[in-house]
Amino acid sequence: MSNSINRRNWIKSSAMMAGGLAFLSGTLDKLSAMPAVRKVTASIKGATDQTAIMSIPPKFGPLKARLLANENPFGPSPAAKKAIQDAIDTGYQYPFQQIPVLTGKIAAYEGITPDNIVLDSGSTPLLLAAAMHYSKGGKEIITGDPSYDDLPTHAQLFEGKWVKVPLTADYKLDLDAMEAKITDKTGLVYICNPNNPTATVLDTQKLKAFCERVSKKVTVFIDEAYIDYLPDPQGATMIGAVKAGQNVIVARTFSKLYGFAGLRLGYIIGQPDVLSALSIYTSGSFNLSATTLAGAIAAYRETEFLQDALKKTLASKEYLYSVLKAEGYEYIPSSTNFVMFPLKMDGKQFVQEMMKRGVGVRNWKFNNKDWCRVSIGKMEEMQYFADAFKQLS
Ligand SMILES: Cc1ncc(COP(=O)(O)O)c(C=O)c1O
Repeated sequence: MSNSINRRNWIKSSAMMAGGLAFLSGTLDKLSAMPAVRKVTASIKGATDQTAIMSIPPKFGPLKARLLANENPFGPSPAAKKAIQDAIDTGYQYPFQQIPVLTGKIAAYEGITPDNIVLDSGSTPLLLAAAMHYSKGGKEIITGDPSYDDLPTHAQLFEGKWVKVPLTADYKLDLDAMEAKITDKTGLVYICNPNNPTATVLDTQKLKAFCERVSKKVTVFIDEAYIDYLPDPQGATMIGAVKAGQNVIVARTFSKLYGFAGLRLGYIIGQPDVLSALSIYTSGSFNLSATTLAGAIAAYRETEFLQDALKKTLASKEYLYSVLKAEGYEYIPSSTNFVMFPLKMDGKQFVQEMMKRGVGVRNWKFNNKDWCRVSIGKMEEMQYFADAFKQLS
């Protein structure tokens, strides 16, 4: 690592003269760091939110209710949209200056330093960087089952092994069972909190104690993509573990409550040496879009707008609960912008039938049951869901 480029410093100093050489040397560093075996076959990868969207057949036309990727239809905010438009005029410039502005804002709010933050175009590239780094040498990635599978799926495409730990009876990550799986072969423990797809949240004190104990043995990766939907995100975040010097990485995204899924911006927070190690596997902040950064700077902690989106999400969710109850269905109480419930028919068939009616949802199979995950959309989208669902339930 010592001779690799610190890209963020490079950007800060805007050392354009050195750019060409540095870029070449950085690329070589990256190539030498890549695990040699990439078992590339798209077929290893199961259905993800991305593949579900990509597979919407044109014959179904545009969806009336797009409830399959946990997007937030209430964002981005008007202030973000204006900042994006204003930034178009200077779109010919690399975004050197905006990066420290956004990392500075995040650092100030969280009480950390910019060195604790790496931005990327969504949290996905950072999850994939962690997948590559922590699976090197055939290491194991421990996750809940089911949980968000992008990181472990990619680890498997390289050298990693995926250790899946079933959820508890109330569909939460089983921290004790996950800890019990740690051996000297473990590369990473991945905790998605709140968990996708079950929408459950862990007890904060229990997770804090877990991070403190487990991070002494192995890196803990906490994916907080949906934390903004909790009543007290600052109380629930594990950024405090990073501040306490623990070997913990926290991933955040603008894709959910901020409504930036298509604009692409996410970040990780961790110890500076860990972030340097991971940055070898990314194309770096240099690769960010200036318009998206301008939007994110305007949107970050725009509390009133975010609270409004949250309120509308909760109203749509309450409506969905009432529909499910009226039709005689149970559901897992949700701490996020999606709801998981057990189906009474084959999951694949259900999704296809809903799709024919213009409603996109996702299906899962676990605990010997077929499940549906519905993202929370605008009220009219939930009404489309209800109309279609009533025809099938
Ligand atoms: C738990 C979780 N983490 C990460 C992501 C990736 O989000 P993005 O790359 O848009 O930041 C998602 C997307 O749905 C998610 O559900």
